[in-house]
Amino acid sequence: MLLWLLFVLLVASGSSIEATTTEETETAQFFTQLYKSNLQQMVAIRNESIEPCVDFYAHACGQFEQQQSEDAVPPYLYNLQDRMEFFEAQHGSFQTLPGKLLGQLYSECKQRNVQHVLSVQPVLTHWQQLLLQLPMLQPHQEQLQAWPYLRHQWRRRHLDEQLNWIELSAQLAAHGLPTLLHIYFAAGTIYVAPMAELPCPTLQGFRDSMATLLKDRNEQVSHVLAHELRMLCRGMRGELPLGQSLGNDASSSSDALKLDDNTLDYFQRFFAQLNFTPEQLTAARKLSLDVAAITQAWLVLRQTEPRIITNYVLWQLQQKLAYHDCFQLSKEFERLLHLEYWQWHVFAPKLQRNVALAMYQLHTTRFQTRRRSQLSRRDWYGYLLPKQLEQQELQIARLLQAHAQHYLNLTELTLHYSQVQFTAGSFYSNLLRLRRAQLRHSFESPFVDEEDVQQPAYFLRHFLHFALLTLHRPIYHYYATQGLELWQLSRLLLDTDGYYTALDCLQQQSQQLYDPSSAALYRQLSSHEVSAFYGFQRAFLAALRDYHFWLAGERFLFAEQFVLQYFGLDEQRVLFYAAAQQLCNRQDEILAPRLNRAFMNTLEFQEAFKCDAQAPMNPPAKCLVNC
Ligand SMILES: *[C@@H]1O[C@H](CO)[C@@H](O)[C@H](O)[C@H]1NC(C)=O
Ligand SMILES: *[C@@H]1O[C@H](CO)[C@@H](O)[C@H](O)[C@H]1NC(C)=O
Repeated sequence: MLLWLLFVLLVASGSSIEATTTEETETAQFFTQLYKSNLQQMVAIRNESIEPCVDFYAHACGQFEQQQSEDAVPPYLYNLQDRMEFFEAQHGSFQTLPGKLLGQLYSECKQRNVQHVLSVQPVLTHWQQLLLQLPMLQPHQEQLQAWPYLRHQWRRRHLDEQLNWIELSAQLAAHGLPTLLHIYFAAGTIYVAPMAELPCPTLQGFRDSMATLLKDRNEQVSHVLAHELRMLCRGMRGELPLGQSLGNDASSSSDALKLDDNTLDYFQRFFAQLNFTPEQLTAARKLSLDVAAITQAWLVLRQTEPRIITNYVLWQLQQKLAYHDCFQLSKEFERLLHLEYWQWHVFAPKLQRNVALAMYQLHTTRFQTRRRSQLSRRDWYGYLLPKQLEQQELQIARLLQAHAQHYLNLTELTLHYSQVQFTAGSFYSNLLRLRRAQLRHSFESPFVDEEDVQQPAYFLRHFLHFALLTLHRPIYHYYATQGLELWQLSRLLLDTDGYYTALDCLQQQSQQLYDPSSAALYRQLSSHEVSAFYGFQRAFLAALRDYHFWLAGERFLFAEQFVLQYFGLDEQRVLFYAAAQQLCNRQDEILAPRLNRAFMNTLEFQEAFKCDAQAPMNPPAKCLVNC
């Protein structure tokens, strides 16, 4: 009971929630369970007969294998797994309209291959399902059964008159599935670009991908088809001599995209699918990117048999809609998911949004301060700070709220997506409907780069991941994974002097202490390894300090200490274990020296584990980094 109450403090501090006692107790119980199971696992993975001061990595990971059950997730995937489990458990309870659409789509994706117990019908193949469901294929269902086509089949069936690759490809593109040309939008602008990653596997890759479709046909058929497809995609990418000469020809012309009758036809059919008003189209800015590449690809198309292009478009269609992993939908429609999450319906029973925001703010404070000072030093380079970041007090919570108000505007998104009509049980057609709605919506929406660390969108995603993580793992886990990664990926802590100092110092350490009879603790590190060591050590120290900052900041320390003690751990040691155990059993020969060398060379490790002066993990002269 006492433990529960402590966790109420932990969870509710800084917030204004007025939960009833039962709710508090439930929440507390939930978080207590979380700590308990995680700490139990942490303790179980260790091998106590190996001293931490002899070989920390071996100690921390010693019983890892014995602890793994059949379907265990590799520890470094925990966070992704947590997100997936949460999504899986909650998608049926989504409450916003866009969230519900995504939830339904996910269920339908999962149910695609479930055979009903009483059904006598055989499970349809992927291709048959596509034919049955996709509106643009339905008129040609009969002919498409025989796809992919050799020349004689195409002729015999008079397919030239029936299948129009321009129409097909334009329709698919308008449904968010570009195959020959990439047209996309942002805030009143139309971009036309070549296909950035035009799929082009090897001959064997093509053959493998068509193996099920062609299993009853002569082996030569798949050779011929694969060869044709590969010639086409290589030509479009400009990898073939023919293509290159055409390309040079094209690039000598001009920057503006010259529309031939094919592209013109394509554009017309494409825009016809998207309900633009003529005014919108006229007023829109139009930008062509890499005109030479587009022109050259379309010259190749012009010189290719329509049959082969049709084969290629349909091949891409069935490849791109394979959805072996339905969870990819959550990435593809992340904005809808984040809208749902931001409304907080599915989090509310466990964690209040303002509490989560307050916790997240605390976590990122040191990171933000560092980033801002680094960025302002670069000002003269022209890296000007976005306005919000210039504020003296960086209010990440306010920043996120402001961003979410616009980007995840419930009214606007609900209005837009209410036009999407789903057909029950028809995953592929629903998927394309949602993709089309998303594409269309991007025309009304400013471009947001979620990978850009200067944009609030980046932090919005991290914040939501953080909130999800806190529902699955104790707080220290956050610092050992996402917190650590935040520092490591930002590269804010790296500098050349520090790297050379580390290189020098580690070399000396290896020369003085390497002993072939003992473990490889002090082996020479390559320059590449030193750089990895250096990045890891600095990021780990920063994350460790963040963690202690967090502990000191609120009333957390007492609670955390209390729980950790129960498991024979303490807040000084726990992060070393948590960070090490992410890496167990991955590439031990690479990661063990990196981790051990990094830890033994920090004072925090020595303080936490109190290693003897002679202990292997306690070199007399340490290679310390300052940060
Ligand atoms: C723990 O480490 C010791 C010493 O290396 C080893 O002999 C023992 O087998 C390990 N225990 C387990 C369960 O792996
Ligand atoms: C949200 O969208 C609605 C409808 O488009 C609009 O009226 C409102 O101003 C928007 N709110 C914000 C904060 O952008």
